[in-house]
Amino acid sequence: MKILITGGAGFIASHVADAYLELGHEVVIVDNLSSGNKANLNPKAKFIEADITNKDLIQAIVREERPEVINHHAAHIQVGYSVKNPQFDAENNIMGLLNIMEAAKEIPVKKVIMAATGGAMYGNKPTPFNEEMKAEPLSPYGISKRAGELYLNYYHELYQIPFISLRYSNV
Ligand SMILES: NC(=O)c1ccc[n+]([C@@H]2O[C@H](COP(=O)([O-])OP(=O)(O)OC[C@H]3O[C@@H](n4cnc5c(N)ncnc54)[C@H](O)[C@@H]3O)[C@@H](O)[C@H]2O)c1
Repeated sequence: MKILITGGAGFIASHVADAYLELGHEVVIVDNLSSGNKANLNPKAKFIEADITNKDLIQAIVREERPEVINHHAAHIQVGYSVKNPQFDAENNIMGLLNIMEAAKEIPVKKVIMAATGGAMYGNKPTPFNEEMKAEPLSPYGISKRAGELYLNYYHELYQIPFISLRYSNV
């Protein structure tokens, strides 16, 4: 299967890329190297240096590569900075996802997997969190991840694109 991984030069998604390649999948990594590192890139993957906020570029990549699955890990991930600059956070985490999905709906992709957050999804509720709890994020980062889930639900409802959002705890 051909899988496009955003953020695949980063900590988590570089391991996801390795696992996909080990299973025999074809992997295309898109990353702007803002916090990722070329040293994390598996040489068996195709690497495209690109920013998901560059609408024309990322959409051209999705249309050209035509992945069956998109595994979306590219994001701005610092909660503190998201409080200082919510626009930057939303630009990367919400607009970046929409840029991808507007092209993905045309292919259409068979599945989208998104890295959300467990830690920032439930506000200041007492731990432990569980999946039945209401998502009430407080920080712009958590809000951007919840918005991403709601947008993926929208693409599922309108375009029947299956998705899963993984609410990671601190990895
Ligand atoms: N690390 C954790 O504990 C944790 C917890 C919950 C959720 N997550 C989520 O998992 C994902 C990966 O996190 P990580 O810890 O590996 O972080 P990371 O910073 O190592 O990886 C993020 C990758 O995305 C790339 N990136 C960022 N903005 C981009 C953009 N605009 N265009 C293209 N590439 C861009 C970065 O260069 C980097 O390689 C993120 O979506 C994050 O929100 C992480």
